[in-house]
Amino acid sequence: MDRMLPFGLPGPTAFYVSLYVATLAVHVVFMNYVLAGVGYLAVASFRGKRKGADGGPVELSDVLRDWMPFATSAAITAGVAPLLFVQILYRKEFYTANLLLFHRWMAILPLLIVGFYLLYLLKTPWIGGQSAVVRGVVALGALACFSFTGLSWTENHLLSTDRASWPGLYERGSMVYYHPQLLPRLGMWAVGAIPTMCALAAWQMYYLQRKGAGVDPRQPRNLARLAIAGVLLSVACGAAYWRQLDASAQGHIVGKAAGPYFAAACFGLVLQVGSWLAHAPRSDFRRQALMVCTLGLALTIAGMTAVREAIRLSVIDVSPLYAQHADAARKGGLVVFVVFFLVNAGLIGWCLCLTRKRSESATVE
Ligand code: HEM
Repeated sequence: MDRMLPFGLPGPTAFYVSLYVATLAVHVVFMNYVLAGVGYLAVASFRGKRKGADGGPVELSDVLRDWMPFATSAAITAGVAPLLFVQILYRKEFYTANLLLFHRWMAILPLLIVGFYLLYLLKTPWIGGQSAVVRGVVALGALACFSFTGLSWTENHLLSTDRASWPGLYERGSMVYYHPQLLPRLGMWAVGAIPTMCALAAWQMYYLQRKGAGVDPRQPRNLARLAIAGVLLSVACGAAYWRQLDASAQGHIVGKAAGPYFAAACFGLVLQVGSWLAHAPRSDFRRQALMVCTLGLALTIAGMTAVREAIRLSVIDVSPLYAQHADAARKGGLVVFVVFFLVNAGLIGWCLCLTRKRSESATVE
C-alpha cells in the first residue's frame, strides 16, 4: 500500500511531504511574482518616465507597483507553512544549515523589512517627482533585498543536503557556503519567476480591461515575449543545473519516483508557451488562453516542487523520523486548523473588498 504513496514513503511521512510540497508551491507563486516583478520595476524605473496624475493607458509597471507590497506580504506569509513542515521533515539538516550560516542567515529579516518599505516608497507621490535614476535606485534596492533572501534560501537548502561540508565550514567559521549547483539553481529560480509574474499580471490586466480601465494594447504582446523569454531562459538554467547534478540525482528525476512529476512540469511549460503564442498577436487578454496558461503554470510549479523534494529525499534519509511523524499525525487538531483557516481567509477577503471599494470611490471622487 505504501508503494502507492508519494516517493514510496509511509503514510504519515507522505502526508507531511505532500503538505510541505503543496504549501511551498503557494509560497513559490507569490515569491515568483515578487522576484520577477521587482526586477521588472527596477528596469522600467531606470528606463521609463513616470506617468502624470492623468494616467494614460495601464501598463505592467503600474499594476506591479500598486500590488507589490501586498504580494510581498503574501509571499512572506505563505512561507510560514512550509517553514513549519520543513522542520518536521528535515529537522537536523535544516537547523544545522541555519546555525552554520548564522548571522548571514538571520540577515534576511532586516533586509526583508527594508525591501518591503522601499516598495511602499515606490508608490508615493514623492517618488513620482524624482528622476529616473532615483526611482531606479529605490527599485534596485528592493530587488537587492529580495535577491539576497532568495540566495540565502538556496544556499541554506544546498548546505542542508551537503553533510560532508559541515565540519569544514564550522572550523573555518565562515558564514558563506558555495556549491557548484548554487548559481544555476538560483538562476532557475530567478528566470523561472518571470512566467509566473506574467501570468498573474495578465489576469490582473484582464480584469482591468473588463472594467474598461484602458489597458495599453501592447501589453498582451509584451507579456507574451517576456513570458516566453522566461521559459527559454529557465530551460537553459535547468540544463546547466542538470549538468551539475550527480548521476544518482539525475536518475531520480527521470526515474519512477519523480519522472511523472517532471513530465507534468515539462507539459506545463508547453501549455504556457502555447497560450502565450496565442496572445502575442492580440491587443487584449483572452480568458480561455489565460486559463490554459494558468493550468500550465500550476503543472510546472507543482511538478518542479515535487521533483525538488525527490532530489532531497534521495540524499537525506528521513526514515529515523518515521515514528515521530506517525505520532504527530495521531495528535489531531485538523478541526481547529480548518476553523482558523476559514476565519483568517474570510478576514483577508473582507480586507481586500474594503480596499477595493475605497480605491474605487477614491477614483470616482
Ligand atoms: C520575498 C522574499 C523571499 C524570497 C525571494 C524567497 C525565495 C525563496 C527561494 C528562491 C526558495 C527556494 C530555495 C531553493 O530551493 O533553492 C525559497 C524556499 C523557501 N522559502 Fe522563501 N523566499 C522569501 C521569503 C520567505 C520567508 C519570509 C519565509 C518564511 C516565513 C520563506 C520560507 C521558505 C521555505 C520554508 C522554503 C523551502 C526551504 C527548503 O525546503 O529548504 N521564504 N524561498
